Amino acid sequence: MLAGKHILLIIGGGIAAYKSLELIRRLQDQGARVTPVLTRAGAEFVTPLSVSALAGTAVHQELFDLTSEAEMGHIQLSRSADLLVVAPATADLMAKMAQGFANDLASTLLLATDTPVLLAPAMNVRMWEHPATQRNLETLKKDGVSFIGPNDGSMACGEFGPGRMAEPDEILAAIAAKLADGPLKGKRILVTSGPTHEPIDPVRYIANRSSGAQGAAVARALRDLGAEVVFVTGPAEVRPPEGVQVVPVESAREMEAAVQQALPADAGVFSAAVADWRVASASDRKLKKSKDGLPVLEFAENPDILKTVSQMKQGRPGLVVGFAAETNDVIENATAKRKRKGCDWIVANDVSPATGIMGGSENAVILISDEGAEEWPRMGKDEVARRLADRIAAALAG
Ligand code: CTP
Repeated sequence: MLAGKHILLIIGGGIAAYKSLELIRRLQDQGARVTPVLTRAGAEFVTPLSVSALAGTAVHQELFDLTSEAEMGHIQLSRSADLLVVAPATADLMAKMAQGFANDLASTLLLATDTPVLLAPAMNVRMWEHPATQRNLETLKKDGVSFIGPNDGSMACGEFGPGRMAEPDEILAAIAAKLADGPLKGKRILVTSGPTHEPIDPVRYIANRSSGAQGAAVARALRDLGAEVVFVTGPAEVRPPEGVQVVPVESAREMEAAVQQALPADAGVFSAAVADWRVASASDRKLKKSKDGLPVLEFAENPDILKTVSQMKQGRPGLVVGFAAETNDVIENATAKRKRKGCDWIVANDVSPATGIMGGSENAVILISDEGAEEWPRMGKDEVARRLADRIAAALAG
């Protein structure tokens, strides 16, 4: 995914610096070359030795380091990469960048570069929310700097709120999106995938047989065409692809909340097999066998995520694609479903057990749109995904 790409990774001073070690690994797994720069504060959290050992190359630390100046000046260093990534980006580094200071190696590189820059901020919640940091954030955004995170969560300092550095896979996804080259470059696409689990009690749930294979393949294919993909996935068997932003959820209601959170998007592909019903009042204690007979489960209807998004008055993605799992009268049912939900396209498939499609590696789909029903031959789920991604790229371009 990042083969041949060169990332200059500046590691600032923060407890999240340890996650940058993992990030180096993940970048290399994707074929990228990483040149690390460690600030003085960064070196208080991770050692130069671990950084250089992982990166497989020397770590740059000082502005006036004569050996590295002789080998590669800081100006050249700042321009040799395809992307500069600062992770963790501290409040101090952001302030220096916003003001244009160049009083150490990291700030000098960031001022001297003509390469795109991506920041993954990490700091205490009050520092993040301070008007000074928010001002710097706005200034840097205007300067064309991109950001990933920070996330909400509990922090090493014991407080809770925005300030946690994005996880390595989220940073990787943002890097992939920035470096992507393809017809979907600059497009943000939401993909739902996998089954949902609807709790009965803390140990039991209702589920379905979706493996998440088709959704993961769609996310991968969209990523490969350069899209920034937000992948909202239920508990699937198949691992989510690298280089997409993964939002794991369990139930339909969690999926709906994650989808709302992920909007706006240029397109949404709803391939999840969402449970239509949940247990109305799931027990917070394990149900026990009782002399009074078998438990009776009452059901409540889950939100229809595809329908809600398709019918949004404001902020509806320009293209909404649903899936229809049918066991009979596939075209008729799926055509009616497209109307009922209000989505633009429906990818319909026959999931009756004899087809072996649900949980299998192949799919035979019919694409239903304004223009009618188009039957695709049976093919691998990856191939279905690639064709669908090409269609989406063509639709968003037109
Ligand atoms: N879907 C959704 N939210 C739900 C149910 C379904 O977003 N609560 C989406 C699925 O992701 C899929 C589409 O709706 O894109 C159709 O799903 P399907 O299960 O085939 O249809 P249902 O709406 O459940 O209709 P039915 O059970 O009557 O076939």
